Amino acid sequence: MVIVAAVKQDFLQIEGMTRSELTRLLDAAEANVPIAEQRQSRKEVLSGKVVANIFLEDSTRTRCSFETAVHRLGGQVFTLTAAGSSTSKGEGLIDTALNVEAMGVSAIVMRTNISGGPAMVARRVRIPVINAGDGRHEHPTQGLLDLVTLRESLGQLQGKRVCIVGDIAHSRVAHSALQGLVVMGARVSLVGPPTFVNKNQINIVKHSDLVSITHDLDGIINEVDAIMLLRVQNERGAGSLISDDYRTLYGLTPERAARLLPHAVVLHPGPVNRGIEIDDSVADRHGGVRILRQVTHGVAARMAVLEQLVPSLVETGQ
Ligand code: CP
Repeated sequence: MVIVAAVKQDFLQIEGMTRSELTRLLDAAEANVPIAEQRQSRKEVLSGKVVANIFLEDSTRTRCSFETAVHRLGGQVFTLTAAGSSTSKGEGLIDTALNVEAMGVSAIVMRTNISGGPAMVARRVRIPVINAGDGRHEHPTQGLLDLVTLRESLGQLQGKRVCIVGDIAHSRVAHSALQGLVVMGARVSLVGPPTFVNKNQINIVKHSDLVSITHDLDGIINEVDAIMLLRVQNERGAGSLISDDYRTLYGLTPERAARLLPHAVVLHPGPVNRGIEIDDSVADRHGGVRILRQVTHGVAARMAVLEQLVPSLVETGQ
């Protein structure tokens, strides 16, 4: 038995998606929220199917929510990590994926520090590949869950003002969110120190009137409908690039949070560096914080992606 895709679809990036394609996924994710919250019973869309989670970088939210999403769709999942797999012996991305495909799995979910790694794999395998974060390129299911959370809190995204704060240039989370917000018609202010936020590093700034850059968070914080804080990526060397006063200039302190509009919401992809990007008292007690809501939406959004991609597979007798 060989499994092939009738029309293979992958989910590699938000860049290039149309508003109707994105809206379809957001609507599907929203419909899955009651299942993610266990208020509705699971679906059986993936019954009898196995999904391979290949996580060559560490993860808590993405890895576990893909596993949960597969379970909530009635399928089975295994996770392969760098430690304990033959990648530690030098086996590369493509060979790893080809071997996993040969086991008869129905889809590959992949996280890697190689930008474009999932796209390379997608060109070599016949099953759907889902990008779970690749280097500094994109983290498209994070982008989806961010948009689901913003839509739930703000309604339509068209015309809403969102600021993304932090290391925009090197953040795959920011790249996916930014692409998605622009497609949905939101206005986006990119905020951070000049090393992280400048128009030479962020192409879309040159092509979209919806995107602007500022280094002054205090100048706009009382005007935004949502603030998305990015993690300072110490493991990618970002900590050494920022000065000690990151919190002073860009952290969501209680004083800054007090200047947010009453309806404004606060997002963060996690893991949170408390006391740097956001203070404890804001993270734990501010009414606008949606950080754990994002995590719930991660399960619903990943279910939506799996539902869209995996049933396109058909089995042949070859
Ligand atoms: N937001 C996110 O990607 O978190 P993890 O690295 O824990 O998956």
